[in-house]
Amino acid sequence: MSDSTTDTSASPAATGRRTFPADFLWGTATAAYQIEGAAAEGGRGPSIWDTYSHTPGRTQGGDTGDVACDHYHRWEEDVDHLARLGVRAYRLSISWSRVQPGGRGPLNAEGVAFYRNLLDALRERGIRPFVTLYHWDLPQELEDAGGWGNRETAYAFAQYARHMATELGERVEAWTTLNEPWCSAYLGYGSGVHAPGRTEPETALAAVHHLNLAHGLAVQAIREVLPGAQASITLNLHAVRANDPASPTDADAVRKIEALANRAFLGPILDGAYPADLLLDTAHVSDWPFVLEGDLEQIRQPLDVLGVNYYSTVTVRHFDGSGERAENDGHGASSHSPWIGVTDVEFVQQAGPYTAMGWNIEPSGLTDLLLDLHRAYPGLPLAVTENGAAFDDELVVEDGARRVHDERRVAYLHDHVEALGVARDAGADVRGYFAWSLMDNFEWGYGYSKRFGILHVDYPTGERTWKDSAYWYAHLTASGELPPVTAVDPR
Ligand code: FCB
Repeated sequence: MSDSTTDTSASPAATGRRTFPADFLWGTATAAYQIEGAAAEGGRGPSIWDTYSHTPGRTQGGDTGDVACDHYHRWEEDVDHLARLGVRAYRLSISWSRVQPGGRGPLNAEGVAFYRNLLDALRERGIRPFVTLYHWDLPQELEDAGGWGNRETAYAFAQYARHMATELGERVEAWTTLNEPWCSAYLGYGSGVHAPGRTEPETALAAVHHLNLAHGLAVQAIREVLPGAQASITLNLHAVRANDPASPTDADAVRKIEALANRAFLGPILDGAYPADLLLDTAHVSDWPFVLEGDLEQIRQPLDVLGVNYYSTVTVRHFDGSGERAENDGHGASSHSPWIGVTDVEFVQQAGPYTAMGWNIEPSGLTDLLLDLHRAYPGLPLAVTENGAAFDDELVVEDGARRVHDERRVAYLHDHVEALGVARDAGADVRGYFAWSLMDNFEWGYGYSKRFGILHVDYPTGERTWKDSAYWYAHLTASGELPPVTAVDPR
């Protein structure tokens, strides 16, 4: 990422509005399984999300990513939308099973060509591709061999990363190894609300480690092929708050959740060690035998940028075992907790307002997270790689034009970009912001019921319609100034 630290981001322009430097990276984000569709086309192999979504009872309404937004066929139109939005960057993910159907062995030339064409088209429009190698869609064959519980998956991932670096090379602006390994490990193997839907506490911890190892090995593989490559990982770090800031037991609850949610990844990746308290807290579940000698050196690789996904806060308190344990962590209902080994913490209901996900809207959590990272890792550039909100949008036709007046989403984006600006004012080196998402898409276990897009997608026809939030975002990208929430006129 280009160096924007010398710019004064917050100096008011003539308008009095918050401004961002000209090289600040405005972008949008998507993920392969959520938008591509064409699940059985072009030589693509099955992934764990195909299997999971086709298993009755797993996703809302039985929705699958078979067709999704049909981006596989409509990608040229989607690149046009990106260009019209004026974004300087686009975060996409590669479907591993589209380019390497079995997760090992031969590449699928047709799948590789799809991404090569997409990247070329983005480049032609001046849009920098930020490519995530793994946004949760493990090739099913690798899951059949043990998935992220199996160390071999980390080696397979590094090999896949090497292939992609070789095949796609300089087209890629920055390489993100994993998206939110927290979800892959704890929701995939702990609570089971994500694919592959397993509920095995020790396997979830093994998955944490194997994902971390996969990251480190992949960064090395990419840099071997492309010595100048920019490498990153995207984490869904939790902004954890104490229910009673004065309570020592609530403070300990915060510590435990931060260990599992944040330091289980930041520790090995940036500091080269698992936090001692995490190992202690989970000792009754596992003594972490899967961490082998030398692994931590492999995992800790210099990063060019750390990606942070942020949606809301969590508030925790000590649970004394009486009554029902509150589980408002925003991660979906399951009889198995994703919080491995921790039974004396509960997640309390937080104050609203809420999005359609039931997530509380609290922009200050983003400022806090970015500043905490800045203080802990001063030299590390940051980017907000996802931020956005689902609401129950309504499509209306006005004077023959299709419109979606999503003022709550506009306000959400406005307030979070402002919160990012506040963190920059205080010194955090945040270089980009990617709105989640370019368009409505398959929201995992919630299927198509939750709309996060700044473009509306009519699923029966695939038609895209700009919501007011898209018009607002285009004003932002064009001026680099935070527009008022009323700036939603088509431009
Ligand atoms: C994040 C995921 C992304 C999307 C948003 C709403 O956890 O990375 O794919 O589902 O949440």
